[in-house]
Amino acid sequence: MKQRKILVTGGAGFIGSNFVHTILESSEDVSITVVDKLTYAGNLKNLEKWKNDPRFNFIKLDITDKTEVFAKLQNVAITEIAHFAAESHVDRSILGPEEFIKTNVMGSFYMLEFARTLHAKKELKVFLHVSTDEVFGSLSADGAFTETTPYSPNSPYSASKAGSDHLVRAYFHTYGLPVITTNCSNNYGPFHFPEKLIPLMILNCLQGKPLPVYGTGENIRDWLFVKDHCLAIDLVMREGKFGETYNIGTRNEKNNLEIVHRICELMDKKNPNGAPHKKLVQFVKDRPGHDFRYAIDPAKIETELGWKPKYQFDEAIEQTVDWFLENKPWWEEILSGDYNKYYEFQYKELNSK
Ligand code: NAD
Ligand code: DAU
Repeated sequence: MKQRKILVTGGAGFIGSNFVHTILESSEDVSITVVDKLTYAGNLKNLEKWKNDPRFNFIKLDITDKTEVFAKLQNVAITEIAHFAAESHVDRSILGPEEFIKTNVMGSFYMLEFARTLHAKKELKVFLHVSTDEVFGSLSADGAFTETTPYSPNSPYSASKAGSDHLVRAYFHTYGLPVITTNCSNNYGPFHFPEKLIPLMILNCLQGKPLPVYGTGENIRDWLFVKDHCLAIDLVMREGKFGETYNIGTRNEKNNLEIVHRICELMDKKNPNGAPHKKLVQFVKDRPGHDFRYAIDPAKIETELGWKPKYQFDEAIEQTVDWFLENKPWWEEILSGDYNKYYEFQYKELNSK
């Protein structure tokens, strides 16, 4: 097989950086170019391990700037694109939707336009668009999302991701672009930005801060370890069918209170000075339009591509807690910057009773 030359958009974020680790750790015959705007969520520390590796290259680039996209990428050798770059946090999309439309819709559009030029030169093998199960809306107690579930997004974030999914689909049907979309459930693991439920709870436990649980804590998410997700994306890029979509999940539904309690129990063991951490749980105002339940049916990727997750939840959540305990400088730097201002603001705006 010829060398893979993968362009990773949003590769300095949570899942994108894990994807870079997955690929570079498993293959010599590959080169990766990460493009990233380095928003509040992008962090070059996530990629530090590779900075002197000849297989790795980083370009600071805003995908919402079409001129910049075309100019900065014109001389980069690319055979595959893994498109992760997005605004990703639902609460932020409620407080300020505009960036979500710009990046997730217009940014994806420019990346597709750029990909079309590679396709015209017969250089592009695949454009993998990373999307979310939130485009399908909210489930009640039964059932699970399949690839044919109708779209029904409820937040500005999920609506913007749905918009990009539709554009990707259209570029297959209209221009024959070799696209594939993956829709996955909630990820967790190393490098997870501390605004999201799992890292937020771990870090608040460590700081003795309240653990804000929205509403009653009964909302359900289907938790996917980021390393399993990245292996699945790589599999889809190599063996998926163009024009298709694949759901990725590991049948691992938990309600939010179960997640918070599990983290508290792990923290009691690993940070006994703060025990019992459950005393920090604080029920706060619910998220507006809060989707009740997500659940992925991964039968298609399992049967058609033979995908199986490698990790069990119990070991992966403990690994995640350990990662945060072992990487204090990483999160201390984030918590001491602008993020803290946002957190206090969000806490006041969205979370207070
Ligand atoms: P993240 O917020 O951690 O990272 C996003 C990255 O995109 C950051 O590095 C950021 O700097 C970059 N970025 C943002 N705007 C940009 C722009 N205009 N130009 C260039 N780069 C830009 O997000 P994540 O959790 O790693 O999510 C990655 C992708 O996976 C997103 O498309 C998201 O919708 C999707 N997804 C995430 C989850 C999850 O649980 N985190 C689940 C399903 C799907
Ligand atoms: O389902 C996939 C999606 O998962 C991705 O597309 C998104 O990019 C990703 O951010 C995530 O969205 P969620 O809104 O599900 O994740 P979040 O971690 O923000 O919240 C998870 C659940 O926890 C949700 O029901 C809201 C709740 N929550 C969240 C926070 C931050 C709380 O109860 N308290 C909190 O402080």
